[in-house]
Amino acid sequence: MKLERRDLIWIIPSAIAAGFFGWLGWRTVYIQFFKSGVSEPVWKDGPRVHVAEASELRRPWAFKYFEYPVRIGSAERRLRAVAFRLPQPAVGGLELEGAYFLALSRICTHQGCTVNFVDNPELGAIAYNFRTDHPFLGCPCHFGAFEPLQAGRAVYGPPRFPLPRLRLEAEDGAIYATGHETPLRPLEQG
Ligand code: FES
Repeated sequence: MKLERRDLIWIIPSAIAAGFFGWLGWRTVYIQFFKSGVSEPVWKDGPRVHVAEASELRRPWAFKYFEYPVRIGSAERRLRAVAFRLPQPAVGGLELEGAYFLALSRICTHQGCTVNFVDNPELGAIAYNFRTDHPFLGCPCHFGAFEPLQAGRAVYGPPRFPLPRLRLEAEDGAIYATGHETPLRPLEQG
């Protein structure tokens, strides 16, 4: 078949549309099914910072925001983080007298926005279009969601990597952060 110049009028837009929808399909599959798992953390030691009294996090899903100083290259930063009590253990978390705690970075591993602890799943379903029956961490920029019960794993939206964990230790009824998981995505290794 001989192509004529006027055939380009439909060939070029068709090729562009096919390319776009092919890219969109691949990206959707990539985002939904290629999320990174969570394993035992590799810790980097850091300063000992008081996070909360254990009594402040008295019930499962109680949470507290805090900041943790980190060094990235030669720069000092204050990492926004959240500590919360879980109803069950999580990899990299702390157990204290039958109660389970976990601390996560609040820097989204997609493009670095600050994630929020969404403690009302119904509101979360409306705001994030993500349905679950318990609290989660949501990113307001592109509506990514992270699962606390899976130690911060990315479960919805564009992020692929989990939120890095902070190491928690207990002393005299208080909870301290003493280091962070490495790499500290997205500040390290994107
Ligand atoms: S920056 Fe968090 S979902 Fe994009």
